Amino acid sequence: MFDPVEKLKEFIRHPSVSADPKFAAGMVGAREFVAGLLRSLGFAVEVVPTPLHPVILAERGGDARWPHVIIYGHYDVQPADPLNLWVSPAFEPALRGRRLYGRGAADNKGPLMTHIAAVARLLERRPDLPLRITFMIEGEEEMGSPSFAAFLAQQRDRLQKADFVFLSDTGSPREDQVVITCGLRGLVLCDVEVTGARTDLHSGLHGGVLRNPIQALAELCASLHTPDGRVNVPGFYDDVLPVEPWERAELAKLGQSEEQYREFLGIPAFHATAGFSPFESARFLPTLEFNGIGGGYQGEGTKTVIPSKAFVKISCRLVPNQSPAKIRALLYAAIRERMPPDVTFRLVDQHEGTPYVVVPPGRANTPPGQPAVLARAFRAADTAVTEIFGKPPLYLREGGSVPIIADIKRVLGLDSVLLGLFLPEDNLHAPNESFHLGMMEKGMATSEKILAAVADA
Ligand code: BES
Ligand code: MN
Repeated sequence: MFDPVEKLKEFIRHPSVSADPKFAAGMVGAREFVAGLLRSLGFAVEVVPTPLHPVILAERGGDARWPHVIIYGHYDVQPADPLNLWVSPAFEPALRGRRLYGRGAADNKGPLMTHIAAVARLLERRPDLPLRITFMIEGEEEMGSPSFAAFLAQQRDRLQKADFVFLSDTGSPREDQVVITCGLRGLVLCDVEVTGARTDLHSGLHGGVLRNPIQALAELCASLHTPDGRVNVPGFYDDVLPVEPWERAELAKLGQSEEQYREFLGIPAFHATAGFSPFESARFLPTLEFNGIGGGYQGEGTKTVIPSKAFVKISCRLVPNQSPAKIRALLYAAIRERMPPDVTFRLVDQHEGTPYVVVPPGRANTPPGQPAVLARAFRAADTAVTEIFGKPPLYLREGGSVPIIADIKRVLGLDSVLLGLFLPEDNLHAPNESFHLGMMEKGMATSEKILAAVADA
């Protein structure tokens, strides 16, 4: 059996930034590393080409009557910048205390390695384990998985006969309190580009004559929320479902302190959506955020200019039952109606993702006829987490998005069991990302137990 921490270090050393073509070699390196590791465990590994970054499919077949689990992960990572804020270089793994630092340590290389190591240990102990396992590891998650839906459709015949998907690409609030994520928010992203005059202008010669595109854009942005924190786009909340009582009860069991959360964020006060606590707002409601804004002079000192252009990048997070296409249409309609006629503008579609929800067995709104192996996997997860982390898991929806989980449900008809392994302190997408090795060890033991229980039933 290999040393999982050493293997994770090796994985992190491959700088696999999917969004930046300069990291093409890192993508190849990370992919070959994972493919080689799975091959060494006896898996039949196939690297399936896509228009951009290939998907690794690694199979352990067996008797068609055995349960079949697909373990999902992604080998790509977010860009590491701003590099100067890293305490140790992003792609040189560094162990400080019980944390391993490096880009992708938590999202998603550490959690993925946790499951690979769990499978390795389990198969070493029980080479005849009656379980079919397919690793499905993609390289475009951090850029919105543009190739993945087509990949799923192309591989539908061999994948849709699986029983469920198992993964860790979500978080838990504390080392002793695991969350099994049963909902993910969807996404709709776009850019708005506003143009005033055909070129930048001297603000003395022409000031007072035309509308400044930055002003037009700022007024548009300001119009997109009401003062109580709700999104001010007509129809935006129409399809939001009421929160189930059991979900509120689960959230209450988290026992999070608003004051501690406020301090963790470093803000003077919350500005959550009206009628909801900050914790409820992040998990149960949709949002509209500005991710970046620009236009005009950004350098030292001053420049008296009326810029020709301004832009903003917008993302909406959606909750289950909201449709990305519908929300995009509502948002664009509001923008078109509000933009003044004395500027021109362009709406640029960016990617989107459908929200996802799976209700674990035994809840008021569990869909009837939930597949037996899925229900068994949920129950096995509950038992394993309780035993290994010392506390039963909580079942909560998550504020983040893993859009392919809804694609897998739509194309293959499969639900996912999402075991949360990263922690709030892990700095996902930020400088000094790290993964807690305690979560890795306990995660391995948990994954091993769940897979064994699914096989043995
Ligand atoms: N692992 C994250 C999703 C996540 C983050 C789940 C935090 C739970 C808590 C995933 O890799 C990710 O970053 N997703 C992106 C969306 C993607 C389409 C770029 C996200 O949520 O912004
Ligand atoms: Mn991510």
